Amino acid sequence: MNVAVIYGSNRSNRQGIKAAYFIVNKLRNKGFNVTLIDTKQNELPFLDKMYKEYPKGKAPETMEKIHQILEQADGFVVVSGEYNHSIPAVLKNLLDHFQQEYYFKPSAIVSYSAGTFGGMRVAVHLRAVLAELGMSSIPTIFPVSAVQDSFDETGKALNEFYNKRVQRFIDEFKWYLFAYKKQRAIGVPY
Ligand SMILES: Cc1cc2nc3c(=O)[nH]c(=O)nc-3n(C[C@H](O)[C@H](O)[C@H](O)COP(=O)(O)O)c2cc1C
Repeated sequence: MNVAVIYGSNRSNRQGIKAAYFIVNKLRNKGFNVTLIDTKQNELPFLDKMYKEYPKGKAPETMEKIHQILEQADGFVVVSGEYNHSIPAVLKNLLDHFQQEYYFKPSAIVSYSAGTFGGMRVAVHLRAVLAELGMSSIPTIFPVSAVQDSFDETGKALNEFYNKRVQRFIDEFKWYLFAYKKQRAIGVPY
C-alpha cells in the first residue's frame, strides 16, 4: 500500500517538518510504503499550468516527479500548519497543480500549530479542499499543539500521548485505504 505524505512549508525555521517525519515513521512502522512530498525539496512555481495541461513528457521535472508519486499512491496524508487560520500558500499551490491523481483515494489530515489549538481551523478548511480534489478525508483528524516542542528533529514524539493516539488514526486510515483500493479495482465512474 503506497502512501504519499504531503507537507507544505518553505520557511527557513519551519517546525512542521518534525510532525511530517513523525507520521512518515509511524506509517512505515505499520508496513506502508511511504513517500514524503515536501514543498521545500520539490519547489514548484506559483501555478501557471496544471500538470494535466502539459503535453505528455513536457511537464517540468519536479512536477513530473510529484505526479508519479501521487499517481502511484493509494492515499494521502496531508500535514498542514495553520497560517492565518487557513492553508499555507505553498501547500495549496502544490495541491492545485494536480487533479486526477487524487481521485477515488482517501486522505487523512495532520494539522498543527505553535499554540494550543493544534491547527483545527486549517483542518476544517483543508477538509473542504480535499473533498473538492476527490480525496475526501477520514473522520479523525490528528491535531498537534505546540508542534515546536512535541517532536525531536527526527520526528520522535516527546510526549507519549502522540504515540498512543496515532495508532487509532492510522488504523482508521488503513481501513479506508483498503476499502477504496478494493473498489477502485472494480472500476471508477470517471
Ligand atoms: C504566516 C503565519 C501565520 C500564522 N497563523 C497562525 C494561525 O492562524 N494560528 C496558529 O495557531 N498559528 C499560526 N501561526 C504559527 C504557526 O502555527 C507556527 O509558526 C508553525 O510552526 C508554522 O508551521 P511551519 O513551521 O511548518 O511553517 C502562523 C505562522 C505564520 C508563519
